[in-house]
Amino acid sequence: MCGIVGYIGSRDATPIISAGLKRLEYRGYDSAGLAVIENRHIEVRRDAGKLSRLEALLAEQPIHGPIGIGHTRWATHGEPSARNAHPHLGAKGDVVVVHNGIVENFAALKEELAAEGAVFRSDTDTEVIVHLVERYLDAGADLPSAARQAIRLLKGAHGIVLLSSREPDKIVAARVGNAGGVVIGVGDGEMFVASDIPAILEHTRRMAFLESGQVAIIRRDGFDVTTLDGKPLDVEVHNVAWDPVAAEKGEYTHFMLKEIHEQVRSITDTIGDRVDFPAGRIVLPTLALTAEAAQRIRRIIITACGTAAHAGMVGKILIERIARVPVEVDIASEFRYRDPLVDDETVVLAISQSGETADTLAAMEEGRRRGATLWSIVNVLGSQAMRLADGTITMQVGPEIGVASTKAFTAPLVDLYMLAILLADLRRAPGETERRRMVADLRRLPDLVSNCLDRAPAVESVARALKDASHCLYLGRGIQMPIAYEGALKLKEISYIHAEAYPAGEMKHGPIALVDKTMPIVALAPKDPWYEKTISQVEQAKARGGVVVAVATDGDELLPRLADLILWVPETPWRLSPVTTVIPLQLLAYQIAVMRGADVDQPRNLAKSVTVE
Ligand code: M6R
Repeated sequence: MCGIVGYIGSRDATPIISAGLKRLEYRGYDSAGLAVIENRHIEVRRDAGKLSRLEALLAEQPIHGPIGIGHTRWATHGEPSARNAHPHLGAKGDVVVVHNGIVENFAALKEELAAEGAVFRSDTDTEVIVHLVERYLDAGADLPSAARQAIRLLKGAHGIVLLSSREPDKIVAARVGNAGGVVIGVGDGEMFVASDIPAILEHTRRMAFLESGQVAIIRRDGFDVTTLDGKPLDVEVHNVAWDPVAAEKGEYTHFMLKEIHEQVRSITDTIGDRVDFPAGRIVLPTLALTAEAAQRIRRIIITACGTAAHAGMVGKILIERIARVPVEVDIASEFRYRDPLVDDETVVLAISQSGETADTLAAMEEGRRRGATLWSIVNVLGSQAMRLADGTITMQVGPEIGVASTKAFTAPLVDLYMLAILLADLRRAPGETERRRMVADLRRLPDLVSNCLDRAPAVESVARALKDASHCLYLGRGIQMPIAYEGALKLKEISYIHAEAYPAGEMKHGPIALVDKTMPIVALAPKDPWYEKTISQVEQAKARGGVVVAVATDGDELLPRLADLILWVPETPWRLSPVTTVIPLQLLAYQIAVMRGADVDQPRNLAKSVTVE
């Protein structure tokens, strides 16, 4: 989705904003632009396409100044083109705005403004914002007040950043609802603003996060925050622990490959100090869960989108089997419109890498309205899903830049496993010996992940065999069923091969009709409690001429006789096995996408963090 970067200080804003936008490329966009106040005059450069087009334009027509804002746009209203790219200027050319989100009442506002004489030069909903701000500036308001009056008229969710050459000493930024974050970076005699942490991480780790309904007035030596009515607020500045180097590709050709290989580290960090190995116990202080509260829980609803929802499906099996608490998994975009049955004995647990996915945040808000306790598992510190929740477990994976989520899939699997053990412990579910064994299994996990990654070269021959397929079927059962969904999602989103996943037992109820020699089948069949049942489905597919790729446990003697190709994984305790079986599927999708020449880190039509409904 759209990205925002702004700068005010004494350096030249143009290269700082350009570099920040580059770091937001992973979010997905189709046009880009930048505005700088140069000698008390606003200069705008913008174009359709990738940032390289904007850079070429800036090389031809350079602009320089100590204050500016930039934007990468993911088109919603109006095609991706230079005229629709942000920033948008007002009629007099002295106010300029960038915007994430959708102005839901833009048609009515546009009509009203046109009747007042405003001339629109784009097809975007955003342009009404700049005309509104101009309306209030012309009526005598100062920039912060004009911005607040304008924003109060907008329906929908927004991240807005604007500046004016009438008051060239400030940037105004606002957040309304859940259209992505607004992060303020505190420097030394300079300030930054952005939609995402990585855009400004190389300059500062001291950051403040705007809540919905807050407006920031950012000057080069500090910032103030108010409500939309102008009431002053105190906002805390956090020290963000992310490492700026982690947001670089380093020796890797793609962020996705780097992030796949970071999983030994990310799993180690996610386990971190949350495990008391000698006592055989899990410690999750940020969840603030007491034994009494744990015993009151009647039901958990896990809500999430995409890859995060697949992690939630694994979580359902873990929590139900280990803690014996009923769990449902609800796709976030469905949850709030289903009139869900939620009460104060329900926990709504949101899983989100970005913590800013609009559907997931809306599901959390729905849960809150109905009296549920809210928990979240998030990666981005300070994100809205973290702030909305009563308790949070963090993923500890650092910035994930590749659009295809990898390390932010395996980390929540570990978080959910630890949560299940903690819940069981607090609800006095399993015996002491069983708990100690499950806790001890965590110690082995980073080595098992490392072992899977060492086998990356072996995935290449399977990738070569599948790279020209048009369709692919993924099958899994029990705890491997969500891994089949995740494997298929990885393949389709980055290689554009049509891939579907089914619970293996469903094959005979329809999908088996598709099987012939042109339809490869990827079967998840590690040695787990569902192994025999999965094998019989593999046999049925083989009998119909299907080409079978099996994910199998080292030492399995049966599968090499049944399957055409094998992706071997080390023997892993079954409750943690999704962490190891998904790794060859991540690598497989990656290698196929590279072989097909696809844009792995920024697949077409996709955005890293989906901040619109
Ligand atoms: O930031 P979130 O975890 O809330 O994002 C949810 C999905 O948009 C995300 O997992 C998406 O499915 C990924 N592109 C999959 O690789």
